[in-house]
Amino acid sequence: MNTRTCSALLLPLSLATALSLQAAAPATLTIQTDQPGAKINPAMWGIFFEDINLGADGGLYAELIKNRSFEFPDAMMGWTKANLLSGAGVYSVVTERPFNESNPHYLRLESRSKSPFGVENGGFRGIGARAGETYDFSAQMRCSDGKATLYVELVDIKGKVLAAKSIQGISANWERRTTALRPNKTDPKTWLRLSVQAGNTVDLDMVSLFPRKTWKNRPGGLRADMVQLLADLKPGFLRFPGGCIVEGNFLTNRYQWKNTLGPAAERKLLINRWNFEFKHRPTPDYFQTFGLGFFEYFQLCEDLGAEPLPILNCGMACQFNSGELCPLDQLDPYIQDALDLIEFANGPATSTWGAKRAAMGHPQPFKMKLLGIGNEQWDQPYLERYAKFHAVLKRQHPGIQLISSAGPSPDDNHFKFAWPKLRELHADLVDEHCYANPKWFFANTHRYDTYDRLGPKVFFGEYAAQSDKTVSVLNRNNLECALAEAACMTGLERNADVVRMASYAPLFGHEEGWQWRPNLIWVDNLASFGTPNYYVQQLFARNRGDRVLPVALTSPGEDAGLPKVHASATLDELHREVILKFVNATTNALPVQIKLAGGKRFATQAQQWVLAAADQRDENTFAAPTKIAPRDSSLRILAPDFTHTFPPNSLTVLRVGKTH
Ligand code: AHR
Repeated sequence: MNTRTCSALLLPLSLATALSLQAAAPATLTIQTDQPGAKINPAMWGIFFEDINLGADGGLYAELIKNRSFEFPDAMMGWTKANLLSGAGVYSVVTERPFNESNPHYLRLESRSKSPFGVENGGFRGIGARAGETYDFSAQMRCSDGKATLYVELVDIKGKVLAAKSIQGISANWERRTTALRPNKTDPKTWLRLSVQAGNTVDLDMVSLFPRKTWKNRPGGLRADMVQLLADLKPGFLRFPGGCIVEGNFLTNRYQWKNTLGPAAERKLLINRWNFEFKHRPTPDYFQTFGLGFFEYFQLCEDLGAEPLPILNCGMACQFNSGELCPLDQLDPYIQDALDLIEFANGPATSTWGAKRAAMGHPQPFKMKLLGIGNEQWDQPYLERYAKFHAVLKRQHPGIQLISSAGPSPDDNHFKFAWPKLRELHADLVDEHCYANPKWFFANTHRYDTYDRLGPKVFFGEYAAQSDKTVSVLNRNNLECALAEAACMTGLERNADVVRMASYAPLFGHEEGWQWRPNLIWVDNLASFGTPNYYVQQLFARNRGDRVLPVALTSPGEDAGLPKVHASATLDELHREVILKFVNATTNALPVQIKLAGGKRFATQAQQWVLAAADQRDENTFAAPTKIAPRDSSLRILAPDFTHTFPPNSLTVLRVGKTH
């Protein structure tokens, strides 16, 4: 290129640059640091839990044996003959003289040769075993002659033995026997093999295998890595047990909290509604053992420092299924369930239900303050039933805040019908659900600006951006969805006087056992990781602040007509820090002139956490679980007026100390 051509090209280019710079005025953000507004609910950012996607059985509840009690309708589901063993014999499921009437079926294993004969259980898509860790095996067992031996092994897919023990001298009466296995190899897909030999016959029930390392090392407890991810969120509340699972497809299959108490072997199995809900994702081996029952739930809330928020059936089966109704004049048992739950959680240890809590190991009340009446219900049948619960519960327990439902959508006719009625009823908190594409979230960040300040408050109780569409198997937990949720959450935060609580849904997805996506956390048999959506929740919850600070943002950040730049700010009163949350979902770095108005002096050192990636389609995976995770750093600022450049595709949390 000769110089003439070069300068001829340069002139128009530099002119163009100058012109475009002139066109795009720099974004400015003013935070009114001396005008703290609404108090933010300390329980603002919480967790929605449901046993969907192997969330409890096969997930959080650390039991590794599927169909441990032989109570599945196909009593041998999950079990198979151990084909690599050479001995002869028979196995059968029988019911005579069971060790427990709620759990009548058990396995009879009969050897008919000298060599071993037995069965295997493949857990929930395999049994995850880690080399050197201890796995506690237990089972109820008996044998007719009081002499038999049971061989207990963990084997890999080829039959190679990773750990082996035997249990001798099995008595003639039912007895819980235990042993511990220590696999010599890590393998996500082992099998538990049980065998007898030399003509022995053994009866077996409640066959169980738990990692010794559970959350807080509680025997029969919860999967430690999964609870740790929940604890790391610092959740304000824990909604449980759902979700549609509360409702059942028919009322007989509804979730009944009273059936989830007492010894695990006495908790009656129930089919999981996600077993058959989606024709495109059938999960015929999905049942609820209730090993994670209501006592364990309250205990988990206590561990996490989260407010309990149980959701109860209101006399309606799922309206996406049968919509079966309990007649209004027969609703008393349902209301009584709610009253008894309050007593179970809060009553003295001398009360009927408080005594049951105490007998399970927690004499002190759990101090429950929130209760959901129905899950995702709608229209007149719901409002009539809610009104009945409301009347009794408000009279007897005015201190309990009730959650009512506005249906499955944030703006459909059910929603529009529900709100005025709930307002008339003086409902406390209305549960709004929103599964929509990212556009909806970017476009609705000002949704609550115009809500009635005097009416019921909002619980944004289920939401997640869907990269494809609701219930599509193509939905992804990518950064774009996470940023869309973050944008929306700035709007929830700015309106914290109206929106008192919010939770992403669903929570867990098992890589090989999911029915629904996206999910906040993905797990397999050994590992778990947080999605970008998880880290958005974490950044908001850990940087909640106590009071809303007014913000004014002039933003050039639009993309195809959608606002892609959003901000909110709060004040942490204890640490005297201004907390800014800033979403730049454009693909360009964005310099912003930040003005901390109304303050006199600020620290020159600020702390920031940035969640970003090169491409909004990026995701975390088992191989790269923290590819998109907050990166923290400190930076020097010239507060109260300074310019900060927010990276493309990012959520930034910035904390600036007030020194005066
Ligand atoms: O979160 C998955 C499902 O979505 C919940 O069970 C239900 O409440 C909603 O429809």
